[in-house]
Amino acid sequence: MTLIKTLVLGLACANTASAWGVLGHATVAYVAQNYVDSATATWAQGLLGDTSDSFLAKIASWADTYRTTTAGKWSAPLHFIDAEDSPPTSCNIDYDRDCGSTGCSISAVANYTSRIKNSKLSKTDRAEALKFLTHFIGDITQPLHDEALERGGNDITVTFDGYSTDNLHAIWDTYIPQKDVGGSALTDAQTWSRELISAIDSGTYASTKKSWISGDDIADPVTTATRWAADANALVCSVVMPKGVGALQKGDLYPDYYNSVLPTIEMQIAKAGYRLANWLNKLHAASVSKSKRTERDEVEERVALELDGREFLPAPRPLSHAKKIRELHGYDCGHDHH
Ligand SMILES: *[C@@H]1O[C@H](CO)[C@@H](O)[C@H](O)[C@H]1NC(C)=O
Ligand SMILES: [Zn+2]
Repeated sequence: MTLIKTLVLGLACANTASAWGVLGHATVAYVAQNYVDSATATWAQGLLGDTSDSFLAKIASWADTYRTTTAGKWSAPLHFIDAEDSPPTSCNIDYDRDCGSTGCSISAVANYTSRIKNSKLSKTDRAEALKFLTHFIGDITQPLHDEALERGGNDITVTFDGYSTDNLHAIWDTYIPQKDVGGSALTDAQTWSRELISAIDSGTYASTKKSWISGDDIADPVTTATRWAADANALVCSVVMPKGVGALQKGDLYPDYYNSVLPTIEMQIAKAGYRLANWLNKLHAASVSKSKRTERDEVEERVALELDGREFLPAPRPLSHAKKIRELHGYDCGHDHH
């Protein structure tokens, strides 16, 4: 019994080195695929070299695999933003305070939004930008990716459905979605996405979906992504731990806590997919209108390459306690589910 439990958790860990697990990210991607224009889909398929009907779903967790490699280690901080607020009494995002000098999900959205549009970059680099955007727009909607407390909940020990785990973050990323859907294959993600799409079109989210993308502006990605992060971060106070951390450790999180947070998890996955589609539609439209390129566009693109995204980072400041802890921990699986 103990062995089985360990195996289950071990496997889940491999699945979820970070962020919504494989299931969550693939579902976000399928929702997005449903809402991209056909011209946007063709453009994205061309960049990825994949004309299948799972072109975004297949690459949605690439960034999580990449960050576990030696070459990709640098990208680990881009999966989250450590809001140094005080849940449950006060939740908020302050980009300058929270992003950190090595970057965060918000600077990453800005960097890859700029790179995917940059015609000076190779197709490989623009495909990389698309893979990162597909992933990070998902990560941002997971509330614990927008919270510094206990390293985004990675150090909060809880019990879920009979299993003790040291990781509230993983409960949100993986265990709750998988418990709900029953698997983590692409076909499970596709099934889940169909339910969410119907809720967006004519169900629970029909009247709120407009607000999810209201004001989204590819010309101001830092402001836009900060709004996305603040929206999810507010849920840390209202849904993830409304009575503080201690209340989560008093008993099994299944079924009461599970039932209380599942609607939020579903909404956040739906939201991420809907936002991603809108973002890609706008990016594609902008890249088409670039056919009337000006000299100024040329100069801006060259300057952007030299800066390599650094222009999006907040001004450097001394490391806070929370940022020092992040730095100390490294990013190995088993203790880190960013
Ligand atoms: C922007 O993206 C490039 C390519 O992945 C990366 O080398 C660079 O470090 C990124 N910049 C920031 C500030 O994240
Ligand atoms: Zn991630």
